[in-house]
Amino acid sequence: MAKETLTITDNRTGKTYEVPIENGCIRTNALRQIKVSEEDFGLMGYDPAFLNTANCKSAITFIDGDKGILEYRGYPIEQLAEKSSFIEVAYLLLNGELPTPKQLEEFNYLVTHHTYVHENIKTFMDGYRYDAHPMSMLSSTVAALSGFYPDAKNTKDERSRRIQMTRLIAKMPTIAAFSYRHSMGLPYVYPDNDLSYVGNFLAMIRKIGTTTYKVHPTLEKALDVLFILHADHEQNCSTTSVRTVGSSEVDPYSAVAAGIGALYGPLHGGANEAVLRMLREIGHVSKVPDFIKAVKTGEGEKKLMGFGHRVYKSYDPRAKVIKRVADEVFEVTGKNPLLEIAVELEKIALQDEYFVKRKLSPNVDFYSGLIYEAMGFPVEMFPVLFAIPRTVGWVTQWEEMVKDSEQKIARPRQIYTGSKRRDYVAMKDRK
Ligand code: CMC
Repeated sequence: MAKETLTITDNRTGKTYEVPIENGCIRTNALRQIKVSEEDFGLMGYDPAFLNTANCKSAITFIDGDKGILEYRGYPIEQLAEKSSFIEVAYLLLNGELPTPKQLEEFNYLVTHHTYVHENIKTFMDGYRYDAHPMSMLSSTVAALSGFYPDAKNTKDERSRRIQMTRLIAKMPTIAAFSYRHSMGLPYVYPDNDLSYVGNFLAMIRKIGTTTYKVHPTLEKALDVLFILHADHEQNCSTTSVRTVGSSEVDPYSAVAAGIGALYGPLHGGANEAVLRMLREIGHVSKVPDFIKAVKTGEGEKKLMGFGHRVYKSYDPRAKVIKRVADEVFEVTGKNPLLEIAVELEKIALQDEYFVKRKLSPNVDFYSGLIYEAMGFPVEMFPVLFAIPRTVGWVTQWEEMVKDSEQKIARPRQIYTGSKRRDYVAMKDRK
């Protein structure tokens, strides 16, 4: 039988080493035995941006990027989007199994009864200027929660961990809605325990001058599906940030705040905002060919935002579901005028050699922004709408990391390329 090992010959010394292969990986630490002399530090792996390095073992989310497969705890994303609800998916991700009706009811009750924030949070948020980006408000307010819940430091205590995780999932829509209301100069609306997770969020965004505000069921369902699609995505940039920061054993509010920071960037969760700005810049369907040309020639360092993915190299299964949701939303809201430009961009790009060769196709962010805009959200809120559901993934991954006995404080190595040792030069002697 073939051995599950890798034999490496170091041509510098002629020595041969046998390294075990586990789960299709070698442990890079096994390379450290490969040395040219006793004093040699040993061989390291160099992998900027973790292109080919697994940072953890995880039982939460499975992706096969070549086949366009995404599964939460083994359940295909398409089935969850069609048959489940966001709160049920949250339970699934957190606990590994779908809930029984009683478990779901209890979980829903728990989340619903942690949605209020301390009144001082309102004062804290009021300190922002009127034009603060809601993502900045979200990340700093979530970081501030660590000051409100000092018991969150007990990361080794399962009960404390679970309370903080529930608080984060429950309070995120409240803080997100408050950041929106602040930017609009509108009074904050308190959570309503009679509404669903998504319904309550939409009510906190929209309610004004009435106690009888009704959330449109199609829009509530659409946002629920979008939340399911965004709930987790294994070791993406923000989740890796949460794990990295959390590995120092800091409280989960501080770790999740770091995740929100990572998500804010235009190459990650900020892409949905960037897509909308791009579509507006293009302005008309007749300008699409010129834009595609500019992307291909690198003119103005333009990218086709909402296209491409580090992992998906055939298609992003979330993008497929989103297209269906878009149709349902546009039935209610009317078509977003930018849709025509997006469809034309997709059509041209999918036939163009540049994009085909690089396996670039629409990702989750390409159409989600159009839906959010049709639902009346300003572009600044788009990454916030990503952060709310992703909180479930962040806290689940954080807890998995905390419980993983193989994990340690994250601390990569570097290849030093700076000056060799030299002596300090007094100010008067400097040229
Ligand atoms: N438009 C034009 N060219 C692109 C694009 C794009 N959107 N994405 C990648 N490329 C090119 C890139 O220039 C490179 O070309 P070359 O081989 O000639 O240098 C090639 O395709 C490979 O790209 P890469 O940058 O090596 O791929 P990556 O895995 O490092 O980056 C990505 C993945 C998502 C950051 C990138 O595709 C991108 O910037 N896309 C636009 C931003 C975006 O939509 N982000 C949302 C990602 S999905 C939601 C989420 O999980 O955050």
